[in-house]
Amino acid sequence: ASSSGDAKVGFAAKYPALITGFFFFMWYFLNVIFNIMNKKIYNYFPYPYFVSVIHLGVGVVYCLLSWAVGLPKRAPMDSNLLKLLVPVAACHALGHVTSNVSFAAVAVSFTHTIKALEPFFNAAASQFILGQQIPLSLWLSLAPVVLGVSMASLTELSFNWLGFISAMISNISFTYRSIYSKKAMTDMDSTNIYAYITIIALAFCLPPAIILDGPKLLQHGFSDAIAKVGMTKFVTDLFWVGLFYHLYNQVATNTLERVAPLTHAVGNVLKRVFVIGFSIVIFGNKISTQTGIGTCIAIAGVAIYSYIKAKMEEEKRQMKTT
Ligand code: 3PG
Repeated sequence: ASSSGDAKVGFAAKYPALITGFFFFMWYFLNVIFNIMNKKIYNYFPYPYFVSVIHLGVGVVYCLLSWAVGLPKRAPMDSNLLKLLVPVAACHALGHVTSNVSFAAVAVSFTHTIKALEPFFNAAASQFILGQQIPLSLWLSLAPVVLGVSMASLTELSFNWLGFISAMISNISFTYRSIYSKKAMTDMDSTNIYAYITIIALAFCLPPAIILDGPKLLQHGFSDAIAKVGMTKFVTDLFWVGLFYHLYNQVATNTLERVAPLTHAVGNVLKRVFVIGFSIVIFGNKISTQTGIGTCIAIAGVAIYSYIKAKMEEEKRQMKTT
């Protein structure tokens, strides 16, 4: 057993880029499937607060089973660490629920176009919340992103304010999540941290699901869904979407452990390109020419922004070493 273990370590050490590439591939693959399954569920069961609970609930069961068999071994939790993780989990929960309210309300491609603005919110938070000076060139590079998303939104055929505003709130929540995550840096491995975040986030998601979706679900929500697709499909759809949600997020967290945050952010935008493309093809969504052009401008803008930011960070690093 130890020699096969050595072989594995050897392979990982020899080909780190290949392993990282595999992580990115799995992250994208799981995310595309998640997004498509999720929207298919909303098409017959439009209850995003409840479905968000299912996503996290399946994740919690998965984590408890993984810990039970020691894969991975559960890392110990203490009150100090818990205090650091609660704000991260609260933002994770809010960003998750609001993303889902948007997914249920508009085309998946449109939600992800708005979510492509996340780096803009991150830059704003660095300047206005953390007080770091963002150079003008970096702000200017974000102009096409804002312009592209505005263009895309103005002619988006599935546009409604609920979908737009909730995706914007998810951008704000995930920006705060990354601020709190930096404060919560610990020695714990990413899989264990994400497991704890999932458990705490589930607690935050339960009350809105009970209050906002609960009464409608009991009156006709469950029975309508079962009448449309049958009990077996309904239950298995919910199980699989939850599993894909958990796995893509876990792989995304594991990927972040392997690459710089900026690379991860760029990777996240590229992920949206795939999701937008696949969802348009699979759902046959009609998009106007202006929305198509706007989406392309926004994504190109994020790429330019990331390039400039990467260069700036490289210069900073070089200045430190000389
Ligand atoms: C969610 O359901 O939380 C969203 O899919 C999150 O979207 P993102 O991981 O693509 O930002």
